Amino acid sequence: MTTSSETPQSLLEFCKTCATGLSGLTDDDARIQFVSGLLPQLISDKPLFRGILEGMVTDAPYLELRYATMFDSEVILYRDPFNLFSVRLFLWEPGIFDPVHDHNAWGVIGPVAGELEIVNFRRTDDGLREGYAHLLETDRKTILPGESYHVRGSETIHKTGNPGSRITVQVSIYGRPQAKKDQINGFDIIHHRIFPIYAPKTRKQRLARQALSDSDLHFS
Ligand SMILES: [Fe+2]
Repeated sequence: MTTSSETPQSLLEFCKTCATGLSGLTDDDARIQFVSGLLPQLISDKPLFRGILEGMVTDAPYLELRYATMFDSEVILYRDPFNLFSVRLFLWEPGIFDPVHDHNAWGVIGPVAGELEIVNFRRTDDGLREGYAHLLETDRKTILPGESYHVRGSETIHKTGNPGSRITVQVSIYGRPQAKKDQINGFDIIHHRIFPIYAPKTRKQRLARQALSDSDLHFS
């Protein structure tokens, strides 16, 4: 019997269907199309997400709430053992948006409850100047439960968040990361700067390497 401390059976079954379908696909367009077709089934399962939210409140072990993620309100629900995809939950307080960023993998996202606003940008510079990017907003839209949206790795530059007055519960399914594995780019659109956003482990390891390699600190 499934208890709130274990990964819910319906989530496992969804992930099995997802893994089976993705394992036969060889390009990101097909992967996005396949997962976009599956996502409505997952995000319409309110009892599942009620159980997940209750599991968060009671600190269910499978949710690994202590595991540091790239974004504060992110919870990893499932990682495919062959790294084909992961399923993540995001909780957005009213008015909260993430910084403008790109991605390091394809992804399909959609709200379970509440509204999700997506603001898309494109670069207008030639990309040759290190650390510099000039962005132009191209469009913005708000999606509701039952609707989905996709990202295409570094091609997608956007910010997402909650334009409403209630909390937004959102699911993202991301594919295998591309080359820069534990890093994406953040964009300061006022000062036209690019800054790295590291996965927490990578950020700590970089700092440790910096400390070790600084001869003035006398660790060697
Ligand atoms: Fe994003």
